Amino acid sequence: MMKAYYESFGCQMNAFDTEVIESMMTASGFETVQSAEMADVIIVNTCSVRENAEQRAIGRLNDLSRNKAVLVVCGCMAQRMGDSLFDKVSGLSLIVGPDNYLELVSAVISIIEGGEKNVITGQDGKAAYRLGSTGSEKGGRVSRFLSITRGCENFCSYCIVPYLRGAVRSRDIAQILREVKILTAAGTEEITLLGQNVMAYNRDGVDFAGLIRHILENSDIRRLRFLTTHPRDVNTQIFQIMKEDPRLCPHIHLPFQAGSNRILSMMGRGYTREHYLDIISEAREIMPDLAISTDIIVGFPSETDSDFEETLDIIRKCRFDSAFTFKYSPREGTEAYKMDDDVSSELKKERLKRLNSLVQKIRKDILESRIGLIDEILLDARVKKGENLFWKGRTPHFRNVLVSSDDLNQGEILRVSLSGIRNFTYLGEVV
Ligand code: SAH
Ligand code: SF4
Ligand code: F3S
Repeated sequence: MMKAYYESFGCQMNAFDTEVIESMMTASGFETVQSAEMADVIIVNTCSVRENAEQRAIGRLNDLSRNKAVLVVCGCMAQRMGDSLFDKVSGLSLIVGPDNYLELVSAVISIIEGGEKNVITGQDGKAAYRLGSTGSEKGGRVSRFLSITRGCENFCSYCIVPYLRGAVRSRDIAQILREVKILTAAGTEEITLLGQNVMAYNRDGVDFAGLIRHILENSDIRRLRFLTTHPRDVNTQIFQIMKEDPRLCPHIHLPFQAGSNRILSMMGRGYTREHYLDIISEAREIMPDLAISTDIIVGFPSETDSDFEETLDIIRKCRFDSAFTFKYSPREGTEAYKMDDDVSSELKKERLKRLNSLVQKIRKDILESRIGLIDEILLDARVKKGENLFWKGRTPHFRNVLVSSDDLNQGEILRVSLSGIRNFTYLGEVV
């Protein structure tokens, strides 16, 4: 039996795609192995969102190319760089873009059988996924991703994603529900619906809120989450559903990127800071303890100290649970690439540091404010911290909790009292 090894860089969409690829490979007789040395085929799913993501992936590919296996690169960097990757990575055999995964397995097989190296990066903008089997063979995993849309057509001026992932395509509702049922039957308790912008979901007259209602009404899934959303498309119905049905977890990832209206407009985000703040207050009116996380870019072209202060101001006002923060990285082919990348890397670094310390301070305050309360966690993993073994679980708000009891089971949902915090993780006691 041929053996295959997989690595995934980048966002959850890539993590999910890697699972889809793995399931198609498994269906064609490839056995998954956990180390590259044992593999006949190595598949690396890559990201292009920032330059350092690409440098890391190329470094890793060159490490992996020391193995004797057939080396395959897929994902966003495969799409962006195409056959120029052959010059950057020695021993590379196959390059496959994100719209071509249905052809990946047969292309791998033809290389194993002695075929020429190959590049498959055509984009027809329609490629759908055949997902039928992603769940079944990985039974037992309690928390899984499920993609509901592909692509993005927002064209934020700094972002390469729309050029690599194509236009928004929403998956058929019956197919999504079938997947949900396969996953729940295989032991999944929590599903995170994925897309670059899930609230853009629209198919056969069903919008995102409609899809959520449909899944909640017609399946036994115990927890439902979604990632990522764009302020332009937020529909507050979703918070109403959270309020009515606790299975829809009280957490939203809503990137704001920058706090100054001038920068937001240069980014082409399509909203103002006032609009963003309005969404947050409306959401919290409906769901007072909603957890919100976000993405932020510092050092966008022409960003001044006072623009940056407005970013910090949004953080103080919104009190995010967590934030992914990035230094602006110019991407060739985007609108912002034509602008002067005039914030020095020193200044970007300094702003990032100030931003992160504010984000962490607020995060700590939020966590501390709940010490002593009872919360409900879904046990998803066994983890080792120092000498000790713990069970790790997540609260509905997506906060981590460690419990030290032994006689528990993965997938269990249980009530714990939050007794302390260590490194932004709660310590909990079963009640
Ligand atoms: N579709 C998602 C994000 C995908 S990329 C959304 O819009 O929310 C994830 C994050 O990477 C973005 O939210 C943004 O904060 C960051 N990012 C994207 N392009 C970037 C660039 N050129 N430089 C720095 N950060 C970038
Ligand atoms: Fe990129 Fe903007 Fe689309 Fe997000 S919404 S993937 S930041 S273009
Ligand atoms: Fe990266 Fe592509 Fe995701 S560029 S962030 S892997 S959509």
